[in-house]
Amino acid sequence: MSSLILGKLDPAAARRETLALRDRVLGAPPQDPVRSAYPVGAVGEGDGRRVLVLGATGYIGQAVVRELAGRGFAPVALTREGRPVPGCDDLDVTVVAGAATDARDVERAFDSHPVDAVICLLASRRPNDEAECLAVDYEAPHLAADLAAKAGVRRFVHVSDYGVYRPELQTQVHKLRVEGELVGGHFGGLPYTIVRPTAYYPYLAINFGDVKNGAPYRIFDHGEWNLVNPIAREDLAEFLVNALASEDAVGRILPVGGPWTADNVVTLRSAGEMMFDVLGREPVWEQETIAGWDKKTARLRRAGALYPKLRSVVYYLDAAKYWTVVTHVAPPYGTRTFRQYLERLKDREFAAGSFRDRMRSGTSLVPTDV
Ligand SMILES: NC(=O)c1ccc[n+]([C@@H]2O[C@H](COP(=O)([O-])OP(=O)(O)OC[C@H]3O[C@@H](n4cnc5c(N)ncnc54)[C@H](OP(=O)(O)O)[C@@H]3O)[C@@H](O)[C@H]2O)c1
Repeated sequence: MSSLILGKLDPAAARRETLALRDRVLGAPPQDPVRSAYPVGAVGEGDGRRVLVLGATGYIGQAVVRELAGRGFAPVALTREGRPVPGCDDLDVTVVAGAATDARDVERAFDSHPVDAVICLLASRRPNDEAECLAVDYEAPHLAADLAAKAGVRRFVHVSDYGVYRPELQTQVHKLRVEGELVGGHFGGLPYTIVRPTAYYPYLAINFGDVKNGAPYRIFDHGEWNLVNPIAREDLAEFLVNALASEDAVGRILPVGGPWTADNVVTLRSAGEMMFDVLGREPVWEQETIAGWDKKTARLRRAGALYPKLRSVVYYLDAAKYWTVVTHVAPPYGTRTFRQYLERLKDREFAAGSFRDRMRSGTSLVPTDV
């Protein structure tokens, strides 16, 4: 992680900036050019065109497969061991067994079912594993774009990350590299669209399990270092399929987040307040300071030189800081809000879902069917 994140930050100045931005975003009139960048609603039908989805079994992938099928496209999902796409049993989905990281499997997916377009939604399951990140976040999308160009597909949609505007984490660097190759014409003029979404609800709700179980919600300093407008997966799926169906989206980089409304534009503190409010409890905070976090991270980083296993823990400390201090506010799309998501999640039983669990399990424990 670079010195930008590790450098000294001023908590009071950051808070002032965050709150001023929140006022600007929430106060922007409907005709504001950023607020009105993307008209909401499904536009474009598939007429049976086949679309290869990579990452179809993931959180967003499942919604994209559903959206494609509902809009008249024919989704083809390349999944490990031919696993069906969760929640899509009722749909006509062609499943090809194979790994997106294996060139023969991806070639087979292109050869056996000639496709018109590709949507790439791959993400390493263990973002703290360097080799896995390289394979899943860079090499696999690169391979897919290369084969897509050879197969003459008419569109390649690369789902990147809004955070690449300030790339600090290894996954973001890989995503940015794929973006650069697409923009730079490395795949022989493959028509592409790059979409950079902000955060997704389960990741922002990562502490909800703990809060439900009576634990406090952790904030850094005042908890208002950054601002986020997360996007619902159904809204993002609609946005992605709109982009796929629109010629205007060729060769463009589209940053996107959820609605600019008070129940969707949050600081980490206000996200916590929303969780307590939805659960009908008084907020209880566990406060850390970023300065203390930096010291803890520096100590572990030094120890990591002797004990390499610690490096994966350092990754999560860096990532926690990144998501705490870096603002992710993008032009809005959709109608669903973070608060509505929490309302749906509150009656579900699930193990926990804290940052610590995320570190241990390598994936979020927040249910992904909500
Ligand atoms: N999380 C966020 O807040 C966020 C924000 C902005 C952008 N994004 C990007 O949005 C996209 C969708 O994210 P998501 O949250 O839906 O991801 P996700 O739920 O973690 O799903 C990841 C997908 O990649 C597949 N995959 C992972 N490792 C693989 C491997 N070694 N070989 C083959 N396939 C592999 C998974 O297959 P299995 O089911 O078989 O593991 C799954 O289909 C990703 O490109 C992500 O980087 C995420």
